[in-house]
Amino acid sequence: MTVYQATASAPVNIACIKYWGKRDTKLILPTNSSLSVTLDQDHLRSTTTSRADPSFEKDRLWLNGEEDEIKEGGRLATCIKEVKSLRRQLEEKDASLPKISGYPVHISSHNNFPTAAGLASSASGFAALVASLAALYQLPTDASRLSLIARQGSGSACRSLFGGFVAWQMGEKADGSDSYAVQVAPREHWPDVHALICVVNDEKKGTSSTSGMQRTVETSALLQHRIAHVVPERMRAISDAIKARDFDAFARITMQDSNQFHAVCLDTDPPIFYMNDVSRAIIALIVEYNRVALANSGKLKAAYTYDAGPNAVIYAPKENIKEIVELIVKYFPQAQAFKDPFALFSGKDVQGK
Ligand code: PMV
Repeated sequence: MTVYQATASAPVNIACIKYWGKRDTKLILPTNSSLSVTLDQDHLRSTTTSRADPSFEKDRLWLNGEEDEIKEGGRLATCIKEVKSLRRQLEEKDASLPKISGYPVHISSHNNFPTAAGLASSASGFAALVASLAALYQLPTDASRLSLIARQGSGSACRSLFGGFVAWQMGEKADGSDSYAVQVAPREHWPDVHALICVVNDEKKGTSSTSGMQRTVETSALLQHRIAHVVPERMRAISDAIKARDFDAFARITMQDSNQFHAVCLDTDPPIFYMNDVSRAIIALIVEYNRVALANSGKLKAAYTYDAGPNAVIYAPKENIKEIVELIVKYFPQAQAFKDPFALFSGKDVQGK
C-alpha cells in the first residue's frame, strides 16, 4: 500500500519593517507591507510531517507532541482546506492522480525553540505546515502561491516560505489574491549580515499579536500615520539598501521601524508593552556601540529590532558579531552566549536586574 506522507521544515523570519495591523482579520490582510530576513540556521526552525490516510477519522494536529484542536473555520482548518482544494483541482484535471485530497490528514509539528515567546514560532510553524502539505499533495506551486495560504495561518508566516530578504506586499484587492510574499534578494546576495538572537525571556508573551493588533487598529492615531506616511517610503528605502548591500541604511531603517512599532504599541489603548528593562538596556548598549563606531569609522556596526516580545535580534556584519557577543556577556554577566554566529543567549536570569 502506498504511504502518502511528507516532511518539510521552515525557519523563522525577523522583520525589519514590521507588520502590525489587519485590514481583514479573516483573510489576514495587513494594513501595511513588511520586510524581513529569514534566519537560515538550524536552530529556530519548525519541522512538520503530514500524512494522508483513508483510515484516519478526521484531520488532527500535534504541536511539540501535544494535540492541538483544529477548530472549524479557524486558521489551521483554513490552511488545510486551501491546500486540499489545490490538490482537488489537480485531481480533477488529471484522472491518473491518486484521489488523496479527500483523505483526512494527521500533522505533527515540532519547534526546536520556545513557542510563542516573540520568536516568530507561528511564522515558521504555518510555513512548515503549508510546505509539508504542499509536498504531500505534490503541488507544483511556487512559494508566492503557497505564501497566500500560509498568510491565512499567521500573517508573518507568508515570509518564511522564502529564504533571504523577503517582502510581504500588502496588496489592494479585497479577496487577498495580491497579498503575498516575494523575495527581494536571496541570502547569498548579502551573506555578510548575521543575526544575533538575545533571548531575554522565553516565556509565552502577555498580549498575543492578534489581540494586540486589533486593539492598535481600533485605537492608535499613530498607526494611521505610520500606514499612510511612513511604511511605503521605508519599504522602498530598505529594499534599495539590501540591493546595494548598504548596511548603514539597512541598520538605520531597521532600528527606526522597531522603535515606531513599539511606539505604536504604546499609543494603543490600553497600552501594550512588549519590551522590558533588559530589552531597553540592550538598545542603550547598541546605541552606544554605534555612537563610538560612527565617531571612529563613520559607519554603524549593528542594528537592533524587537518583535512582540522582549527578545532582541541584532543584525550586524559578521566581523562584528564576536565583539557584540563579548559586549553583551560583559554587561549581562548571566547571559550564556553560544559560539554560533546566529547565537542565542539566555538572559532569563538577568531579567529585572
Ligand atoms: O504573524 P503574527 O500574527 O505572529 O504577527 C507578527 C507581528 C510581528 O512579529 C511583531 C512583526 C512582523 O512583521 O513579523
